[in-house]
Amino acid sequence: MSVLFSPLEIGPITVPNRIAIAPMCQYSANDGCATDWHLQLVMNYGMSGAATVILEATGVTREGRISHGCLGLYSDACEYALGRVLHAARAVALPGTKFGIQLAHAGRKASTHVNWMGSGPLGAGESPWRTVAPSAIPYGPDWHTPAAMEDDEIEATVAAFAQAAKRAVRLGFDIIEIHAAHGYLMHEFHSPVSNKRTDKWGGDAERRLRFPLAVAEAARAEIPKHIATGARLTGTDYLDDGLTADDAVRFASELKKRGYDFVCVSSGNIVLGGRPASGVGFNVPNAAKVRKEAGIVTRTAGLIAEPRQAEEIVATRGVDQIAIARAQIDDPRWGWRAAEKLGVKLQLPPQMRRVTTGQWPGLKLVRPQ
Ligand SMILES: Cc1cc2nc3c(=O)[nH]c(=O)nc-3n(C[C@H](O)[C@H](O)[C@H](O)COP(=O)(O)O)c2cc1C
Repeated sequence: MSVLFSPLEIGPITVPNRIAIAPMCQYSANDGCATDWHLQLVMNYGMSGAATVILEATGVTREGRISHGCLGLYSDACEYALGRVLHAARAVALPGTKFGIQLAHAGRKASTHVNWMGSGPLGAGESPWRTVAPSAIPYGPDWHTPAAMEDDEIEATVAAFAQAAKRAVRLGFDIIEIHAAHGYLMHEFHSPVSNKRTDKWGGDAERRLRFPLAVAEAARAEIPKHIATGARLTGTDYLDDGLTADDAVRFASELKKRGYDFVCVSSGNIVLGGRPASGVGFNVPNAAKVRKEAGIVTRTAGLIAEPRQAEEIVATRGVDQIAIARAQIDDPRWGWRAAEKLGVKLQLPPQMRRVTTGQWPGLKLVRPQ
């Protein structure tokens, strides 16, 4: 029996398998609004066989986007455009598929080129914008120096997360995830590498968690109980003076106390050119520690490409759910192949069921090897 294809309860929802599509920025939005690119992508995600689909990092403010092409949820126009995508994806999704959104603020990593242009900071003639962070320290050499946020700016940003959560609820997402990893604003407040404040928003571990937890509480207050609520967080900064798995356990425990249903444990990216991650499932040990010590449903991602690796991770290595990013792009029906390899029958929409079960006499499809 496959564990990968067994159901998982994530707070108030149940998903029929443990495969998630990790959030992936597409740099294809128009002033934060989803386009036809997102329409095809998310419809395909819905048909992929992954029971959990998390949409890309979505800016809670215009300035909180990474690039001019990033998705946002800060205006009625953004909300409308995303509604069209979600509605269409639901119409074709495999039974039981749940859709989530990742709410984010890019902090000092905002105002950059789209990734196929190198992801570096926007130059003077490229409509750059003012970036913000806990402290006025750039992400790397030649990056924008962010403004250290004033109290009122911090409070307005907390409110923006709440407002975006409200929009996500109105859109009908099943899952809402806040992005507290990968060197973006919430992570910047949490990590001692980027937060050098001496006021109530910085200092010891408790104070560095104040902003992430303020965001978490404000978002949670807007999300009704039937929606699974979680956060993506950092298992390690890979730096001697950075966050460790113990910090992740503490953060996850605080989130759980505040009614959070799950976390996704990732790592790295608090500074430019940090230690490159390597190895299949490189975040798995930290994720397993968080799950064990914080007692919360835990997902992880990182170089998981083979169905049997995924099966082994959820069956024996102490995490509840795996997410795939690049493997999904490589094979948009990764979930179908995984089911086939693990000897599982996927629940398909009736339009597909008939042709894939060979109900056309005399016309047996043989796939070239
Ligand atoms: C094109 C691309 C865009 C990404 N965008 C996001 C994002 O919006 N939010 C996020 O948390 N992680 C993002 N990531 C990281 C992935 O979610 C994932 O954690 C990482 O790629 C490792 O998984 P993989 O080895 O299966 O690709 C992105 C990765 C890729 C390849």
